[in-house]
Amino acid sequence: MLLKKTHIVPIIAAVALAFSTSILQAKTFKMALGDAQGGTQYALGEKFSELFEKKTGGKHKVKMFPNSQLGSEQDTVNDAAIGTLDFSILAINNITPFSPSVGVMTLPYVIQSLDDAVKLTRGEVGKELTENTIRDAGVRIVGWAYSGFRVLTNSKKPVRTVGDLQGLVIRVPKNEIMIATYQAWGINPTPMAWSETFTGLQQKVVDGQDNPYITVSAMKFNEVQKYITNIRYIFSLEPLIVSESVFQSQKPEVQKAILEAGKEATLYSEQYIKETEGRIKKELQAKGMEINDPADGEKEWIAKATEAVWPKYYDSIGGKDKLDRVMKILGR
Ligand code: MLT
Repeated sequence: MLLKKTHIVPIIAAVALAFSTSILQAKTFKMALGDAQGGTQYALGEKFSELFEKKTGGKHKVKMFPNSQLGSEQDTVNDAAIGTLDFSILAINNITPFSPSVGVMTLPYVIQSLDDAVKLTRGEVGKELTENTIRDAGVRIVGWAYSGFRVLTNSKKPVRTVGDLQGLVIRVPKNEIMIATYQAWGINPTPMAWSETFTGLQQKVVDGQDNPYITVSAMKFNEVQKYITNIRYIFSLEPLIVSESVFQSQKPEVQKAILEAGKEATLYSEQYIKETEGRIKKELQAKGMEINDPADGEKEWIAKATEAVWPKYYDSIGGKDKLDRVMKILGR
């Protein structure tokens, strides 16, 4: 069919309109990260972004803002809740204040291995926590970084026993369960936002803190901390959250891409920690950090923390039954 000149102008206009509409719909989503580049958060975020972009045929992109550039981890939950931020990756302990049932994942010594962490995040408990964070905090968990046990670091002395801890000023996140754990060990820790922690350690406002090996390395804490105690009281899980209002405003195919990319990036994160943690530990030693194991197989640390802290938080995590159910899932 031969097009008349009078038809060509409207066709060009329609194509231009369709093109500009699709350009307008393309979006660069903003993702906040509490940690610097080089850790488990960054690895998860990078993999998610790559997969999400691919799944949307290159139409949508994600721009990552590491190192708390968009605010403290707890601030990013608020921003995502009101829809001014799209995504955030943060430590689970920084969501708990907004959705207390998540605390079951940060009760001391509940998660005792990467396998435990995988079981809980990918099973019915993980699903329940996702529903709860949507309800309580306006954010949806779509993926998980597995970051390893939070080891204790400090600048003053080797710590092996609970007794050695006395007199040290330890920074903790603004998380009641973690504060209560240090109190059970006999000290009053200092709650401080993650974004202020490096400076706090550097200026000796605090002597120490706890975070996984990979995070200690990514944040260059070895420059301001000397001693590590290999405690295993909390396995650090770092959820990738999306603003629920942003999620709901997406087309079904974009929602599907977010969920699928989140699941696949989570599998990648499991692999990443298996391949990375041992090497990072050695690198930290090579950079001058001294690693000590807690005395007596950590028995005193475990007894003091579990006896004092667990009963105190049964209500906020959804009842003792919930913890019993978690333990059953973990085969204990
Ligand atoms: C914290 O200690 O506040 C967090 O674990 C920091 C992090 O996200 O790595």
